[in-house]
Amino acid sequence: MEQIRRKCAWIIFLIQPPTLGGFLFQVLEVCCEDNLSPAYVMEVIIQPSSELAAQFAAQMIGRALHADPRLVLGLATGCTMDAVYTGLIQMHREETLDFSSCRTFNLDEYVGLSGENPNSYRYYMNHHLFYHVNIDIKNTHLPDGMASDLDAQCEKYEKLIKEYGGIDLQILGIGQNGHIGFNEPFSTFSSRTRKQALSPVTREQNAPLFQVPDEVPLFALTMGVGTILDCRQCILLATGEEKAAIVSQAIEGSMTSAISASALQMHPECTVILDQEAGSKLKSHYHLMTGR
Ligand code: F6R
Repeated sequence: MEQIRRKCAWIIFLIQPPTLGGFLFQVLEVCCEDNLSPAYVMEVIIQPSSELAAQFAAQMIGRALHADPRLVLGLATGCTMDAVYTGLIQMHREETLDFSSCRTFNLDEYVGLSGENPNSYRYYMNHHLFYHVNIDIKNTHLPDGMASDLDAQCEKYEKLIKEYGGIDLQILGIGQNGHIGFNEPFSTFSSRTRKQALSPVTREQNAPLFQVPDEVPLFALTMGVGTILDCRQCILLATGEEKAAIVSQAIEGSMTSAISASALQMHPECTVILDQEAGSKLKSHYHLMTGR
């Protein structure tokens, strides 16, 4: 379709007078837009509240897992995800959503925190999801921030994702500086799993979760932006007014490595789920979904 569009555009370019060409070009754009696969449009869904936004995300994950019980699921941590995991646990209990064949890969883990540390992401995942559903813990993966050779650990993680056939569906939050995973500003779009220094903004954002704010680790292991772009489908979930400005820059601004989440604009299948507050600074008019 794109090739036909380009060829027609060239022919129209030669048409005289240019006003007729301009008109025909507009007709061509409208026709092609109708034929564009929805998968190549970043879908933005605005829900009336943060609870409904999280529920919507949980339902998308639940549907994908129902459709493919061997789904390779990419997971995130953070406050935004709490309600998503509560929703998945509820679906497991009420609708017997089956996690027994599901495999998971988390985006990131702090360097220097073991799985027993309540601030580690392994601990978060165990307690927010894994211990409450019928997942085989052997099928759940996070980078090991305690590994003696962190570079080797990152390489191993990338390899493991490949061995599992890649990630089918990745859920993402967004940091106040636009990070996805722990891809801090100026992470390249081709970056892979690696050790990443955490920015002061990120350490400050996560400090309330630590008893002593200074205990927020200086480094994390994170999937790269390139690793995330390789996932077959992405869901970005953002809620709350404090995310409104960065969400609008990431979705409607230019693609730039200064805002890692803006890379999702080139992902072929990305759904952005927002509550009204997080969507309040968007300039375009997106559909407010009130139903489910
Ligand atoms: C954590 C992660 C981060 C968070 C982001 C938002 O695994 O990948 O990118 O999703 O920092 O965190 P919250 O939800 O706490 O605002």
